Amino acid sequence: MSLMSSPSWQDGFKNMLELINSLPEQFEYTKASDIVWPHVKSQDIKHIIVCGMGGSAIGGDILRCCLMPLAPVPVLVNRGYELPSFAGKNTLVFAVSYSGNTEETLNSFEEALARGAQIVAVTSGGVLAKRAGEEGVPVIRVPGGLPPRASLGYLFAPLALAAEGLGVAPGMGAALQETIDVLKRMRDELAQPGSEASKLAARLKGKITVIWGSGPLVEAAAMRWKAQFNENAKSMAFYNCFPELNHNEFVGFEAPQDLMDRVAVLILQDHKEHGQNIKRTAITKELLHSRVPEFEVVNSRGDSIMARLLSLIYFGDYVSVYLAREYETDPMPVTLIEELKQRLKESGR
Ligand code: PA5
Repeated sequence: MSLMSSPSWQDGFKNMLELINSLPEQFEYTKASDIVWPHVKSQDIKHIIVCGMGGSAIGGDILRCCLMPLAPVPVLVNRGYELPSFAGKNTLVFAVSYSGNTEETLNSFEEALARGAQIVAVTSGGVLAKRAGEEGVPVIRVPGGLPPRASLGYLFAPLALAAEGLGVAPGMGAALQETIDVLKRMRDELAQPGSEASKLAARLKGKITVIWGSGPLVEAAAMRWKAQFNENAKSMAFYNCFPELNHNEFVGFEAPQDLMDRVAVLILQDHKEHGQNIKRTAITKELLHSRVPEFEVVNSRGDSIMARLLSLIYFGDYVSVYLAREYETDPMPVTLIEELKQRLKESGR
């Protein structure tokens, strides 16, 4: 039995719901922490790379989307063993691994060290904390013992605040406060029985969910919805964003209707979306009407891009745990991931 599984799926549901409820306080915890930001001169930073996998990588994507309209430097999320060739001493590398034992992230961390990059580790412990300690790399410690995906506040907030502290991400602290306020208001609605999130979960039961972000700025939200549907609800989901999906994916909806009948399309609509993407969404709905009569739509809330993204994410987190309840499955364990990691370990390197 997995470490994270509960005595019954009902217990697992309660535990995951509680963890989802705790997201605003996770952000508050980080804001209040006495984190000592590394001494790096902002003019020396030419790029930011966030290295991580799965639940530890998504905070990097949120940072990437938040900084797209704001930051003077590009942000890239590296989900793999090797760093891109441009990474070097002018690169700020966040090595993020909740467990501290994820081999892809550890490998990238070692490469970053070898190339003289400016590194910050974010972890609850493991080999990453140990190696960072040995090498004098600053470590932001997050509370341990949780599923990585239920630690989003602990894993994302330090990236945003560190990037602001280093002068490459203006306004992150204020955006974080707005986000906390928006999420608390959402929690008051969504944690209630019979909330909009639980009604949406009931409609998505038995479907393969295709999640479409209204534009590239909300891509991280679409990615998170997909991953939460996979890991919490043990269900199939896929994501894409406008306008790219108009150049390929939506043609796939000409597939035989019996296949399409199993698909639900859900649009994550940013209320500040580019006008052309809004038009595209409307035309796409018209063009696909005979194949997909109903589209589900979730609207963003808040003003800053961070609050808008996190509001979409928070709604999806609730839907995913309610969908797990629909399927009477425990949202806590991710047995396949653990088994795969175990087998890799046994096979040696
Ligand atoms: O949700 C999960 O458990 C996974 O996606 C993990 O986050 C992923 O396997 C990476 O592990 P870690 O977050 O410990 O680096």
